[in-house]
Amino acid sequence: MHIAITGAAGFLGQRLVHQLLDRGALDGTAIRRLTLIDQAEPPAIEREGVEIRCLALDISSPGALDPVLEARPDVIYHLAAVVSSAAEADLDLGMRVNFDATRALLEGCRAQGLSATRLVMASSVAAYGGDLPEVLDDIAALHPQNSYGAQKAMSELLVNDYSRRGLVDGLVLRLPTIVIRPGRPNAAASSFASSILREPLNGEEAVCPVPTDLDLFVMSPAKVVEALIHGAEVPGEALGPFRAFMLPGITVSVAEMLEALREAAGEEALALVRHEPDARIAAIVGSWPARFTNERARRLGFQSDKNFREIVEAFLDERA
Ligand SMILES: NC(=O)c1ccc[n+]([C@@H]2O[C@H](COP(=O)([O-])OP(=O)(O)OC[C@H]3O[C@@H](n4cnc5c(N)ncnc54)[C@H](O)[C@@H]3O)[C@@H](O)[C@H]2O)c1
Repeated sequence: MHIAITGAAGFLGQRLVHQLLDRGALDGTAIRRLTLIDQAEPPAIEREGVEIRCLALDISSPGALDPVLEARPDVIYHLAAVVSSAAEADLDLGMRVNFDATRALLEGCRAQGLSATRLVMASSVAAYGGDLPEVLDDIAALHPQNSYGAQKAMSELLVNDYSRRGLVDGLVLRLPTIVIRPGRPNAAASSFASSILREPLNGEEAVCPVPTDLDLFVMSPAKVVEALIHGAEVPGEALGPFRAFMLPGITVSVAEMLEALREAAGEEALALVRHEPDARIAAIVGSWPARFTNERARRLGFQSDKNFREIVEAFLDERA
């Protein structure tokens, strides 16, 4: 089994790489080859019996992925992206990386006849927006209210159409907001959702830019990686006519997140969170829905976290 991963140096990419290597197999077949792609060369990693190549490639430059696709990977994880605030700040960059490069990847699969290759692309809750019902089902329309969401939504349509035409075996997983990301804040509009927990748990100050009654739809890094792996294993026949759906997150308000912080680390930790409203962030994140039925994902065997407390405990265990 040969697996190629774009965005392999990123947060999810690195976790996925380690998880795949620890498992050693995907869909019952031993992993023999990994091709890891990112703008800067992904960190070197070795595992006996697995040929691992780390490539520095800008996936938005024409033909960049051709050599990878010529090697006919069995599974491609397409995780490379310019995240929400950065894509909103620079329309050209977002279009090039989030949309044009996805189209080029699909065209490359078509050119190489990779009809049996499972392409798992990460989309986002940001693909939704506008006037929405309180609870979204699997056929809710996508009306994104930011360029990142629009670029993801357009890519979803293409992955679906190329799959319908039998040019690739695609699947798009819309990811909830991922908390708690370790490390430092990033350019995602939802970056605060991790910061308001991670920084105080590390004894540092954090800024909360949104009202505390804002609901978010969240998933832990571990559950997202589990879902990416499951996404490569779900049979194509089970996926039905539209190959994109929301992963099962859990709904939690910012107030509930802060309460979980207080329970885990006390009043001093909570006092490290400063409330400084930021209308730009609140507008982007506030347009993302926070309640889903997730029937399709659950029927296909994707699983959610049990509750928010467990997400915090998992972060603390990992940090220990
Ligand atoms: N983390 C979240 O909360 C979240 C939520 C929803 C969706 N997603 C999606 O999941 C995927 C992975 O997210 P992440 O959190 O790991 O993000 P990340 O920013 O940590 O990783 C993305 C990687 O893509 C790489 N990249 C960007 N432009 C590139 C280019 N032109 N060529 C090659 N590589 C390039 C970056 O260098 C980075 O390493 C993305 O598609 C993102 O949109 C993430």
